[in-house]
Amino acid sequence: MASPDESQGVEARAVRVGEIELQVIDRGAGMPLVLVHGFPLDHSMWNPQIEVLSRQWRVIAPDLRGFGGSTATHGTATMEQMADDLAALLDALQVTEPVVLVGLSMGGYVAFQFRRRHRDRLRGLVLCDTRAVADTPEAADGRHKLAKKTLAEGTGPVADAMVPKLFGSHAVEADPAMIDTVRRTILSNSPEGVAAALLGMAARADVTADLPNFSLPTLVIVGQDDVISTVDEMRSIAQLIPGCEFVVIPRSGHMTPLENPAAFNEAIEQFLTRVERARPGA
Ligand code: MLT
Repeated sequence: MASPDESQGVEARAVRVGEIELQVIDRGAGMPLVLVHGFPLDHSMWNPQIEVLSRQWRVIAPDLRGFGGSTATHGTATMEQMADDLAALLDALQVTEPVVLVGLSMGGYVAFQFRRRHRDRLRGLVLCDTRAVADTPEAADGRHKLAKKTLAEGTGPVADAMVPKLFGSHAVEADPAMIDTVRRTILSNSPEGVAAALLGMAARADVTADLPNFSLPTLVIVGQDDVISTVDEMRSIAQLIPGCEFVVIPRSGHMTPLENPAAFNEAIEQFLTRVERARPGA
């Protein structure tokens, strides 16, 4: 989805991270935020946040391995590997101070692994429309079948499977152009990258037992009409994390940052301001 970036004057650039290149937006200055997109999208799903949040903070919005302009790798792209990619990206961008990681859905799965593996690099976490449980055997089997189909037929079947689940009724009625843009993003992604992420999500661990051990500021956000990660499920996640804040975004399905950017941005700006005030030396 190159055009929205161009229209907003945001330049994505390629950064070498080990064996691969990650495409990333790096804009603004101050406390660093990393925005981690969902499946099967790319950084452009954060366009309504990049513009606004980069007025106050340094916003880093990468395309994960296999998505957008980043290198696609064969086989399985695990959530752990994607988390390690992000840590290596921060090294390459010379970000030494802890970041606030904001992950939506698959980006949340990556955020959980980032916390497990790179805790000292985190100042706070925002978990949007995501799940702590692993796939059921049936769900994992479905992902394996879809990965096979994607490799054989391209990303059309993934777009057909995902788009109807991503948006609430408000967006369907009020913003078909936005939904069409998301569909085009999905179709433009690499079949290999999408298949690798499907296999990685199917293999992901259940992190529910980790939640009571979180010791950093955490905000959980969910769309009121999210059918993938429901309000009840997200509330249960928030209740298990000590001191966690919980916000339900009205008039939104799974894609809260795109469907109701005003409410999403307000929730996240308030959280970031509180986290920044508690930052040493602030
Ligand atoms: C996402 O939005 O990243 C997906 O819904 C995650 C998933 O399929 O589990």
